[in-house]
Amino acid sequence: MLASRRILLIIGGGIAAYKALDLIRRLRERGASVTPVLTRAGAQFVTPLSVSALAGSKVFGDLFDLTDEADMGHIQLSRSADLIVVAPATADLMAKMAGGHADDLASTLLLATDTPVLLAPAMNVRMWDHPATQRNIAVLRADGIGMVGPESGDMACGEYGPGRMAEPMEIVAAIEQKLAAGPLAGKRIVVTSGPTHEPIDPVRYIANRSSGAQGTAIAHALAAKGAEVVFVTGPADVTPPQGVQVVRVQSAREMLDAVQGALPADAAIFAAAVADWRVASASDRKLKKDKGALPVLEFAENPDILATVAQMGAGRPGLVVGFAAETDDVTANATAKRARKGCDWIIANDVSPDTGIMGGPENAVTLITADGAEDWPRMTKTEVAARLVGRVAAALG
Ligand code: CTP
Repeated sequence: MLASRRILLIIGGGIAAYKALDLIRRLRERGASVTPVLTRAGAQFVTPLSVSALAGSKVFGDLFDLTDEADMGHIQLSRSADLIVVAPATADLMAKMAGGHADDLASTLLLATDTPVLLAPAMNVRMWDHPATQRNIAVLRADGIGMVGPESGDMACGEYGPGRMAEPMEIVAAIEQKLAAGPLAGKRIVVTSGPTHEPIDPVRYIANRSSGAQGTAIAHALAAKGAEVVFVTGPADVTPPQGVQVVRVQSAREMLDAVQGALPADAAIFAAAVADWRVASASDRKLKKDKGALPVLEFAENPDILATVAQMGAGRPGLVVGFAAETDDVTANATAKRARKGCDWIIANDVSPDTGIMGGPENAVTLITADGAEDWPRMTKTEVAARLVGRVAAALG
């Protein structure tokens, strides 16, 4: 699967750099070529000689090596690979990436590239847990950077917790997944997910019980089949999947802006539970109690994101899929909803409280297309996602 694939491997400065030597071997055993870049700090942990001997390639180290610039150039180096892997990805390297710094060869390559990037973070547990690192990780994930690990366990520094670099074979598996030419390779798909929060005042909001589980499972399944996924999510309970571009929003209007900003796309799947109404004039100051007088909230209707995209004419994604959360006459209501909104497919589900579907792990859906209604048996949200993504791949194929 990795035969003739070109990996640019950036080795950062951490004790886990020794595992990068094994990673090089494993990749070459599978037929990949490895071009190594050793940061100045990385060279404190493994020698350029061992790296180059295992990679069977020159080791790149210094941005200002003029011979290399004449030979190849850092721009070309960054783009001549199928995948850039950073292992170990140190807290410092990740901070540089998140901030867009380019003060050595590794960070310059990472900034100059349009090639997919996979990080294998490795650092002390406190450094991993630090809010600065967590902020940087969120930024990198939102930029569509893939990550494998870190794992929890005993660390070289004597502490215990998350921060240990993934084992070489796990990194190989993540590389294979990232490079897999799935049926959706080259397709760009927008997915909305989670609830929206509609502000009442700076501290209060109107929301709903959506966990974001179904939308997250769909985005994950699409990415696993090779799609380029833009995942527009409201404030959900579940963590966004890896390997997708995450756009976080709060309100329905922000979600519409984000979706429109993500177009054009081959398909759009609207799994978000968007609030139908917002408070017409949300207060920018906290509402105070006023001698027993009750506040009166006036509502305004939110834009219908699904209908807007489904009816946009030029630039409309080729496949537009909506969900229909119903409590009564599920198929009839959802069939009418499909026609009203102008989407191609509707996935209808019964969200009555006794079904346990809203916020639960399972879903029982009916797929409604121009050809009619198709009941799927009750299954996990992951299975619904896999089945739906199979249909999407067939439709876009
Ligand atoms: N939807 C949307 N924007 C909205 C409301 C809903 O994009 N403002 C999308 C949802 O993501 C879902 C579909 O429309 O894919 C249907 O959502 P649902 O809540 O079932 O339907 P509503 O349009 O709200 O209709 P109603 O509440 O009258 O059943």
